Amino acid sequence: MFEQAICWINGEITPAAEAKVSVFDHGFLYGDGVFEGLRFYNSRVFRLPLHLKRLRRSAAALQLNVTLSDTEIAQALNDIIAASPLTEGYLRLIVTRGVGVLGINPATCSQPGFIIIADQLKMVSDEERSKGVRAIITSTRRMPPDRLDSRIKSLNYLNAIMARMEANFAGVEEGILLNDRGNVAEGTADNLFVMQDGELLTPPATEGALAGITRATVLELAEEIGIPAREAILTPYDLYIADECFLTGTGAKLIPVREIDGRKMANCPGDAYQRLTVAFTELVEQETTA
Ligand SMILES: Cc1ncc(COP(=O)(O)O)c(C=O)c1O
Repeated sequence: MFEQAICWINGEITPAAEAKVSVFDHGFLYGDGVFEGLRFYNSRVFRLPLHLKRLRRSAAALQLNVTLSDTEIAQALNDIIAASPLTEGYLRLIVTRGVGVLGINPATCSQPGFIIIADQLKMVSDEERSKGVRAIITSTRRMPPDRLDSRIKSLNYLNAIMARMEANFAGVEEGILLNDRGNVAEGTADNLFVMQDGELLTPPATEGALAGITRATVLELAEEIGIPAREAILTPYDLYIADECFLTGTGAKLIPVREIDGRKMANCPGDAYQRLTVAFTELVEQETTA
């Protein structure tokens, strides 16, 4: 199952099957830590500076000291890519609070733990990618920012997992979470876009979405290829009447949505999705072979 996966743990590279972390790490005990999901293509990480910036912001919000410099993290990522049998794959970069005594007090953890996993990640089948996925709006809502800000990419994903369980139970591939005001936030591990009257719309991060790097890239590409795009507050109605809808994420790349709560999208895969997918693939190729 994990034949091609390898790990980098506090400086040591090991096959995933032999990788070990302490049961006293508060990342494991309490979800106390942060992470980034990155992709490498042609053995080079896509948009590393943006991932490092977001990692440091997530850590700063949790007062978690990332003791490695950006150069040291970049070196560790290069080392694991060099040791991986893959030239294209997914990287999970995790910074935990570290080893401490039982009890949630982070002050007992003297130094953070650094873990990197390199593996393949396939979020959907080829068929789902070409036909589009089905989604439901879940009753599980995004945690409001005064409880846990969704811009913090923390190790606690239970909110999204509860939504994903609802999607599984409904027999569809994805769940879409609303915020406490009933506005659309995002998917369980991806951002959401709709096309409406020739405009590409996505909820602002303040509506409960992670500030996705793929999302930012898609907004940038839309401008370049002449698709009007902006952030907008979206309600379930906007999803039901959308001309097209797609999801974005480092793991997902761009995934078209063909149905939401039983309402079929007018176009799937839509024209904007197809043009942006071509532009995204070209950009990745350009930036990772330069
Ligand atoms: C909750 C959530 N939203 C959105 C995304 C997409 O963000 P990015 O494009 O930076 O991968 C992720 C990625 O892991 C995520 O976990």
